Amino acid sequence: MPLTKLYVPAALLLLVLSCPLWHVGQSLPMMGKGPMTDSCVSHARTLLENITDALAQKDLFSAIDCPMQSVELNMATDTPSVCAPKGSTCTGTTKAEFDQKSCLENIGEDLLYYYTFLAAQPKGLLGLTVQLRTLMENCFPWSLSTDLASKQAPTDSPSTYDERLRLCKELKGFHVRTITINRVLGYMNSGEHTK
Ligand SMILES: *[C@@H]1O[C@H](CO)[C@@H](O)[C@H](O)[C@H]1NC(C)=O
Repeated sequence: MPLTKLYVPAALLLLVLSCPLWHVGQSLPMMGKGPMTDSCVSHARTLLENITDALAQKDLFSAIDCPMQSVELNMATDTPSVCAPKGSTCTGTTKAEFDQKSCLENIGEDLLYYYTFLAAQPKGLLGLTVQLRTLMENCFPWSLSTDLASKQAPTDSPSTYDERLRLCKELKGFHVRTITINRVLGYMNSGEHTK
């Protein structure tokens, strides 16, 4: 597990977030109107709002100053670079192609990672988990493996300090990744990538 994680200093994170990945209007490959419907864009938008709300739930993080904590990103996927549009130079080299299939696969893996994580978290996060599942079922159905739901149940006991700390950092990572996912889905939905 630690191999798939990276603690990202705030300054680096700022760089990642402000990197001009999503300037529209640059030349992009022809590939037909993408698979992302308006409702997928809307589900992803709601998910982002729900994560923001969850991060503001102080009782989930008692004795932890969550805004001051570092972000723990899921490093098992490569979503920001795989999903960068053709012609962008954000990853250091100029991206030669936009590979829609790999991009969607990476997003699906992200969603599954966070779904598995959230399913074992306190009940206060149940609504968020349901919203994540809604996005997966409607827009990334192949990312849901069938035996997943039965394996884990939310806890209702107060968690330990370390568990709350991990929850805070993972949720912050989920927030960052969901911002990226929202941009990617909006971009695919706009048809901008067909120009
Ligand atoms: C998720 O966010 C939407 C839009 O802000 C809100 O209507 C809904 O109640 C939220 N759901 C949860 C579980 O927080």
